[in-house]
Amino acid sequence: MHTRVVQVEEGKDNVISVRTGQYKAFRPKLPLVLGLFLAFSVTIFIISVSTINYTGLQSVVTTVTSTFVPCREDEPNSLSKWIQPPPVLIHNMTDEELLWRASFWPRRKGYPFKRVPKIAFMFLTKCPLPLASLWERFLKGHEGLYSVYVHPDPSFTSKFPADSVFHQRQIPSQVAQWGRMNMCDAEKRLLANALLDISNEWFVLVSESCIPLYNFTTIYTYLSQSKHSFMGADDVPGPFGQGRYNENMEPEVPITKWRKGSQWFEVDRDLAVTIVKDTLYYPKFREFCRPACYSDEHYFPTMLTIEKPMALANRSVTWTDWSRGGPHPATFGESDVTESFFQKIFDGVSCSYNGRNTSMCYLFARKFAPSALGPLLHIAPKILGY
Ligand SMILES: *[C@@H]1O[C@H](CO)[C@@H](O)[C@H](O)[C@H]1NC(C)=O
Ligand SMILES: *[C@@H]1O[C@H](CO)[C@@H](O)[C@H](O)[C@H]1NC(C)=O
Ligand SMILES: *[C@@H]1O[C@H](CO)[C@@H](O)[C@H](O)[C@H]1NC(C)=O
Ligand SMILES: *[C@@H]1O[C@H](CO)[C@@H](O)[C@H](O)[C@H]1NC(C)=O
Repeated sequence: MHTRVVQVEEGKDNVISVRTGQYKAFRPKLPLVLGLFLAFSVTIFIISVSTINYTGLQSVVTTVTSTFVPCREDEPNSLSKWIQPPPVLIHNMTDEELLWRASFWPRRKGYPFKRVPKIAFMFLTKCPLPLASLWERFLKGHEGLYSVYVHPDPSFTSKFPADSVFHQRQIPSQVAQWGRMNMCDAEKRLLANALLDISNEWFVLVSESCIPLYNFTTIYTYLSQSKHSFMGADDVPGPFGQGRYNENMEPEVPITKWRKGSQWFEVDRDLAVTIVKDTLYYPKFREFCRPACYSDEHYFPTMLTIEKPMALANRSVTWTDWSRGGPHPATFGESDVTESFFQKIFDGVSCSYNGRNTSMCYLFARKFAPSALGPLLHIAPKILGY
């Protein structure tokens, strides 16, 4: 019933625009034209009603839709400009302009169009993507449920073939150094670019050495059904945690809210906007969290603990091996990638998911060297499910 009404309404629009044209052309014969128009409208109405009744709705609706779509796209103020992702990712906005633009936030509940929420995979990389073919295989067949963004070192221009998921997915980038505020700037830049696509709902930060540990469907379900975002946020006593806090950050950042977490996070759209819109905590961290305070380990976990504590799972879903000690985690190469290596990652872990205990705690793992690609491609169908 609803569709039929819409069809008649659009038919009416069409007739009215025809009439306007005739009115201008034959002004002196107005009554005649009006009479003809009335007869014409009635005929059209009868034809459309009988067509709906006797030949079915489908063909009529299709015809009407295909006639009207080009008109709407040409309209400068149509809804599509807000719901279509930007056709190209390269833009000339400054960070200031980009963060402002990305902080736009619909305040009305729900979406007036069919929105399929996507995972945005945000690659923060120093070099080309040596494990690209593994990711290609992981994402294959799930088009429409993910988007990819690459923030490389600015000296590097990616050249991926047209059929690659990484093709033209590079965003304007700047130098990012480990432990510095410009690392957080790069992460914000990725979030902000990904926010420009209104369908992106979950934002996953990964590096060139990260791999997925499950197939796409499993990861999509895990993230979409979670009540929390996966950001590590621990209250760590001692020199490497609370010891890095600087009292000058008060009162915006009290020590009771000081948190530490791995840089590799997953946040939902609400938290992503909370991060890009921040102008309150940023100056405090830029000024008072400098090495040996590493802002990429503290800024997001701390500001989100203050702003949205209930939205955080307080754990990361990216597995990292710190057991070898030192400031950098272990890197795994060709000879490390075996079935028993992955059993060690999967077995004997326990964590909370939506308030329940689970043994499925990690969705991604790092760090893998380029030499690990061969064995990973070999082992993935059996062990990782893709
Ligand atoms: C970006 O490009 C547009 C034209 O494409 C130009 O008008 C604008 O000034 C540029 N902005 C910056 C910040 O360079
Ligand atoms: C993904 O993995 C799950 C669990 O291992 C499995 O049940 C499912 O069939 C897999 N889906 C696809 C599309 O391979
Ligand atoms: C994470 O920590 C915050 C406080 O820092 C707490 O409010 C929140 O409930 C915690 N999240 C979970 C899932 O326990
Ligand atoms: C979850 O497991 C831990 C031990 O691993 C246990 O202490 C805790 O009570 C369990 N929680 C629930 C809700 O079962």
